[in-house]
Amino acid sequence: MSDISISFLKSCTKWEDCPEANKPEFAFIGRSNVGKSSLINLLANHKHLAKTSGTPGKTQTINHFLVDQSWYLVDLPGYGYAKVSKEDRKKFSKQVTDYILNRQNLVCLFLLVDSRHEPLKNDLEFMKWLGEKQIPFVLVFTKIDKLSSAELNKNTKVYKTKMLNDWESLPKTFLSSATAKIGRIEILSYIIGLSNELKDRF
Ligand code: GTP
Ligand code: MG
Repeated sequence: MSDISISFLKSCTKWEDCPEANKPEFAFIGRSNVGKSSLINLLANHKHLAKTSGTPGKTQTINHFLVDQSWYLVDLPGYGYAKVSKEDRKKFSKQVTDYILNRQNLVCLFLLVDSRHEPLKNDLEFMKWLGEKQIPFVLVFTKIDKLSSAELNKNTKVYKTKMLNDWESLPKTFLSSATAKIGRIEILSYIIGLSNELKDRF
């Protein structure tokens, strides 16, 4: 894949302040520390474009990046971090759910889950909510460098089986590792394909 041009555009706390909704948009979401910002840096081929941290709760705002002058990539704050106060969690959930429900140009959410863990209650609940609201999403299993291929196979199977309790069919899934640089081409090709298909709508 030829390289993409990507630049940071804007950071905001409310969906109303996001850039004009005139391009297809793809947003990354998931628990704090799952690797959203790191994955954006992998896609961008740029180590420090999105701010990452070993401490959960790093990304607190809605961050827009413009790619190839034609689509938006969005880094969102994480959810489910136990040490954040109840008040802050509420604020997060309103900030992000308002964004998801109101952002007209949002084409697809990339829901990131840690490939080392079994399905977590708040991830499954969040997916259910997305289903109820009819928000299109795909799944990304992150940090696959931390597992052997046998473990990865087992974990993704367990994950999918558990999801089938709630869903008739499974969403598209990707595997990624920001450290081992895995998943970049697959995720970018998917986004670019969708974005080309939809560009006349904007
Ligand atoms: P918040 O902004 O707090 O919601 O977190 P985030 O989901 O943006 O996570 P971030 O990208 O900041 O990464 C969290 C930690 O996981 C950092 O220490 C990263 O270096 C590490 N990390 C992210 N992706 C990978 C990966 O693919 N492999 C490994 N081994 N570590 C990773
Ligand atoms: Mg982040």
